[in-house]
Amino acid sequence: MAARARGGAAAAFNVITVEHAEAIVTGAEAAGRPVILQISENAVRFHHGRLAPIAAAAVAVARASTVPVALHLDHVECAELLDEAAPNGFGSVMYDASRMSYADNVAATAAAAARCRALGLWVESELGEVGGKDGAHAPGVRTDPDEAAAYVAATGVDALAVAVGSAHAMRERTARLDHELIARLHAAVPVPLVLHGSSGVPDRELTAAVSGGMAKINIGTALNTAFTAAVRATLAGRPELVDPRKYLTPARIAMADTVTAALRLLTPL
Ligand code: G3H
Ligand code: ZN
Repeated sequence: MAARARGGAAAAFNVITVEHAEAIVTGAEAAGRPVILQISENAVRFHHGRLAPIAAAAVAVARASTVPVALHLDHVECAELLDEAAPNGFGSVMYDASRMSYADNVAATAAAAARCRALGLWVESELGEVGGKDGAHAPGVRTDPDEAAAYVAATGVDALAVAVGSAHAMRERTARLDHELIARLHAAVPVPLVLHGSSGVPDRELTAAVSGGMAKINIGTALNTAFTAAVRATLAGRPELVDPRKYLTPARIAMADTVTAALRLLTPL
C-alpha cells in the first residue's frame, strides 16, 4: 500500500447514490489524493438488490477522475454477491462474517477468500464485530491480537477489519480508540488493518490510529451528515424549490469538502 509506505493510510468512502461517487471523486481531486469508492451490500439492497447500475456509475466516475480511484465492495454477508464484484469493476471486497461465532467466521471467510482469490479479488474480512451496523451498538467488543493472527492464518485474507473502539453510524465524533490494542494488533497481524466506523472518530484519534498501524480508514456517515445538513439548509423555508439539482448541488459540494479534509488528514501526498 503506497499510502502506508508514506506513513499514512488509504481512505475509503461509502457510495450510496451517483452524487456520492461524484462528490467523493471531486473531493479526492481537490486533495490530489487517490481514493477508494466502496459500495456496501446495504446500498445494493437500497438499489432494489441490483449492484450493476450503481457500480457502472461509480466505474464511469472513477474512469473520468484525474486521481487514481479503486472500487471496493463493502460488508458483503451474502456470498453470492461476491461473484458479481469482478464483472462489475471491483478490485476488492470485504466479506463480513463477523456476526458469526469464531469457528463459523473462520470457515465462511476461508471459503469466501478462496472464491475471491480465484476471481482475482483482494479480500478484507472482519473479526470482533464493529458495532452499529443495524443500530446494535456493542461498544465493548474488541479484537484479540492472538486470535486475529490465528484467524488471518486460517482464512488467508489480505486485510483485517478490527474492533478497537469505533462503531458504525455515529453522527458525533466522540469515539475513543484503544491505541494500545491497535499497536498490539499491528505487531501480531501480518496483513493491513482496517478501521470501520471512522465517522465517529475525532481527527487526533484517527491520526494516532494511522500512526499505530491502521492502513485503511472507512468513512460513510460523515459524508451523509454533511450532505443532509446542506439539503436541510437549502430547503429550509423554500417550499417553491423543487428541482433536485438546486439542493443536491450544495449537498454534493459539502460532501466533497468532507472528503478533501479527510484525505488531507489521512493520506500523505
Ligand atoms: O464500512 C463502512 C464504514 O465502516 C463506515 O462507517 O458510516 O460509521 O463512517 P461510518
Ligand atoms: Zn464498516
